[in-house]
Amino acid sequence: MILSVVNHKGGTGKTTTTVNLGSGLAAAGKRVLLIDFDPQGSLSYSLGLADQSLTIADVLTGDCTMQEVMQQREGMDVLAANSTLADVELAMAKSEEHLSHLKNILVTLSGYEYVLIDCPPTLSLLTLNALAGSDFVIIPMQMDVLALRGLDSMLDILKKINLINKHIEVLGVLPVMVEPRKNIYQEILRHIQTHYDVRIFENVIRSSVKAAEAPSFGKSVVAHAPLSTTAMDYKKLVSEMLQIEETAYRNRHPINL
Ligand SMILES: Nc1ncnc2c1ncn2[C@@H]1O[C@H](COP(=O)(O)OP(=O)(O)OP(=O)(O)O)[C@@H](O)[C@H]1O
Ligand SMILES: [Mg+2]
Repeated sequence: MILSVVNHKGGTGKTTTTVNLGSGLAAAGKRVLLIDFDPQGSLSYSLGLADQSLTIADVLTGDCTMQEVMQQREGMDVLAANSTLADVELAMAKSEEHLSHLKNILVTLSGYEYVLIDCPPTLSLLTLNALAGSDFVIIPMQMDVLALRGLDSMLDILKKINLINKHIEVLGVLPVMVEPRKNIYQEILRHIQTHYDVRIFENVIRSSVKAAEAPSFGKSVVAHAPLSTTAMDYKKLVSEMLQIEETAYRNRHPINL
């Protein structure tokens, strides 16, 4: 499955979720590709790939093959990004098929069970390209009032994306950097449960100092501090994801007893 981790609000745990979900799925034996699709290059930095000269931008321009750009980290294949992706985005805007550039690359992939795309915190052409090529989205969000407003506009945008990608679905909203004892968390959780027709992952991600420090070690928190609360939460999220996938598969192929 091709899955975009998206929220046009900044600093909502998109990159952290992409890295840790990917690393956890790879540890569970899944073949995983991570794509850094943000010119900030935070995912690349978080996995010690900040100095890569060849990036996804070179694949998009046709100057390199994916194999030439691909790096391996924590059992995953990774396509890095840096600020050159912003230049490529400008060039994309002038082209005719401006929403299909990434999709045209994704359709050539084979052998991956999970492709995770880390989107930038904007509703830019890059994000629209990621959504045009994805089967599912995960929306990581901090549980505050402003984030709720962001969720409204995010879901509106996804409805519009249906015009260019009919089968895209929200896999779920993922509460991140959660401090479970705070009242506001419980209130916002209840509000989403009652007012939105969207899955909220059961395994939410709590805050920890280890999660914040892991990127500077070039590792996921799952690899850097496997016993931290955040790492444990991401591992449980991986199990939940696998369960969701299994149920969906069973429903598509009912067992006749
Ligand atoms: N569970 C957590 N506990 C503590 N800190 C966290 C946690 N998740 C993320 N962070 C920290 O919060 C900051 C923002 O996280 P992250 O970079 O994943 O968000 P983002 O949505 O990708 O940001 P951007 O919108 O800039 O791309 C980072 O410094 C990260 O290390
Ligand atoms: Mg990010």
